[in-house]
Amino acid sequence: MAINTAPRPGAPSDTIPSVKWQSAWNFERIHALLIFGLFILYGTFRAFENNYYDIPRMFEAGNFLSADGTVPHLLSPYYSPPLHHLSFWPAFLSPSLLLLAFPGSFRFSCYFCRRTYYRAVFGTPPSCAAKEVMKRSNYTGEREFPFYLQNLHRYTLYFIMVFVFFHWLHLIEAFNFGGGKYGVGVGTLICAVDTVLLSLYVGSCHSFRHLVGGITNKFSASTRTMFEAKVWKRVSKLNERHGTFFWTSLYSVGLYDFYVRSVASGAIRDLHVILISR
Ligand code: FES
Repeated sequence: MAINTAPRPGAPSDTIPSVKWQSAWNFERIHALLIFGLFILYGTFRAFENNYYDIPRMFEAGNFLSADGTVPHLLSPYYSPPLHHLSFWPAFLSPSLLLLAFPGSFRFSCYFCRRTYYRAVFGTPPSCAAKEVMKRSNYTGEREFPFYLQNLHRYTLYFIMVFVFFHWLHLIEAFNFGGGKYGVGVGTLICAVDTVLLSLYVGSCHSFRHLVGGITNKFSASTRTMFEAKVWKRVSKLNERHGTFFWTSLYSVGLYDFYVRSVASGAIRDLHVILISR
């Protein structure tokens, strides 16, 4: 688990952190609690709502009208892969209830996410290089139940790679506006941003780096092929920004779902330009 060991500004490793540093520390905790709380509430609401996630289907159902006959082919990321397209899938059962378990477990076992919510909820650990603010008498790391379940992260990665693949398929479909018309709209752009950010988030994952770097625990190049060593170095560069990709991809997935819901429910119209009409 890669942890940033650099002391925070104003927090030398052998002194009690300054008031300024504590403000930043508390801001980080409040921000995390707020965002995680919102996402859990919104995700649960959307999973149970079982509606407004597939724009072409909503159009067919007469949920909204299209003045020029174009319909953006957008699918909410909370309902992807599209299990509801399977003929045997029962309409009353929200596919999102099943689907959200995969990105949910991937995100919540993410090393960066763990560090963030351990700090937010337990107030610890502050950092490897900073003095402990809250003393822990019975700290056992992640060796006890349920914390050792976090090790399943490397397996949730395999599932999430399938989700990323579907995101790219949906992005191609997002250029389709039905009736032989193809173009670019606001929804297409949001879908593109979300797909790229999700790919960067997964591509910068520590477990992904381990996987593409030859699945070895030794850092010496002799244990890897030249190709694996090169890929490992490239992914390590991405990995330095893993936290940024974590937050930005979290925001983008929420924004994208909210946009699809707004269009599918008829609350707003997708602005777009048609570039090809057959
Ligand atoms: Fe964050 Fe894998 S470590 S997604």
